Amino acid sequence: MAASGSTPLHKPLGLLAELTHRCPLGCPYCSNPIALDPRKDELDTATWARVFREAAALGVLQVHLSGGEPAARRDLVEITKAAHDAGLYTNLITSAVGITDKTLDLLYDAGLDHVQVSIQDSVEASADRIAGYDGAFARKRTFAAAVVARKLPLTVNAVMHRANIEHVGDMVELALALGASRVEIAHVQYYGWALKNRTMLMPSRDQVMHAAAAVEELRARHHGQIVIDAVVPDYYARLPKPCLGGWGRRSLNVTPAGKVLPCHAAESILGLEFWNVRDRSLADIWSHSPAFNAFRGTAWMQEPCASCPKREQDFGGCRCQAFALTSDAAATDPPHVAASGVFGRVNSRLRSPGASWKLSFIRKLTETSREFRRSRFKFSETGRNR
Ligand code: FES
Repeated sequence: MAASGSTPLHKPLGLLAELTHRCPLGCPYCSNPIALDPRKDELDTATWARVFREAAALGVLQVHLSGGEPAARRDLVEITKAAHDAGLYTNLITSAVGITDKTLDLLYDAGLDHVQVSIQDSVEASADRIAGYDGAFARKRTFAAAVVARKLPLTVNAVMHRANIEHVGDMVELALALGASRVEIAHVQYYGWALKNRTMLMPSRDQVMHAAAAVEELRARHHGQIVIDAVVPDYYARLPKPCLGGWGRRSLNVTPAGKVLPCHAAESILGLEFWNVRDRSLADIWSHSPAFNAFRGTAWMQEPCASCPKREQDFGGCRCQAFALTSDAAATDPPHVAASGVFGRVNSRLRSPGASWKLSFIRKLTETSREFRRSRFKFSETGRNR
């Protein structure tokens, strides 16, 4: 372990490779940034291959091939092979829209190790509405069956929010029926698009508590059949979470245009300087990038984090969320933020949603999905997807 100043430098274990921001879906909680990278700026195949070799040399074990929709890239098979050849465990994170049986066979032959499919709801009409894409749910079912038929391990990623949180049990049953070995009950985290749409996405505290109890019961009932991971919305957590295992400690994220970020939402923090794999090696960026060193260790912390006995366990929580809620990325997140009143103001509008909330959710969702899809079309006018 080398050292950066007085802060020990850990080895990264995981790399999130955002191959493109292009995507046929328009989910209102998309984790991509508000300002999407255009196709013309995307890294080419050879650069991704170099990044994977450098990542493996740095200690990375696993690469998540993500997007947008990674299948929007014509060279997805070559990229997957490059990651496999570098010795990395390859996980494809996909909406399933745009991957044919033939492409799946080619990906399998290229060394794909694992597939993660997002599913927006257990009810078809609702799932398609949330995704902003008619027929998405049916395609996902077909694709999941094709993945399992090839004996590739499958994870279902179920993003939960106010409109589908009461279907948590059905989502687990659906994952089981699809042959998944793991399901992630991942509540929306509020950065970027999700922050913009927070009012309509945020579940009530009661909904979250019911869902948490349901997950415990489902775990007991399906023990040995499927692994159930669950992430609670930070706004209802009692303590800060050690986001990604700590800033610049365990993982890195490469954007379609080659910027290297400590986490997928790091660009939402104003004033950070990100380096690019076009200009520097991954090892140089990991060790010396100003963005990676901004919140490593504990020297940057303010009170109450600075003297907290848990500061080396939770690292004061999520920097991006702290910035989103307080405009100070070095603030504590989220319980002390909650005490400041920000959370109270947000939550008071969400309590007891009343009978009309579903109608207004659907109206807002449709508007938001349209807006999001428009923004994606805007940058792809010169040649969308393939
Ligand atoms: Fe950026 Fe948590 S998402 S630190």
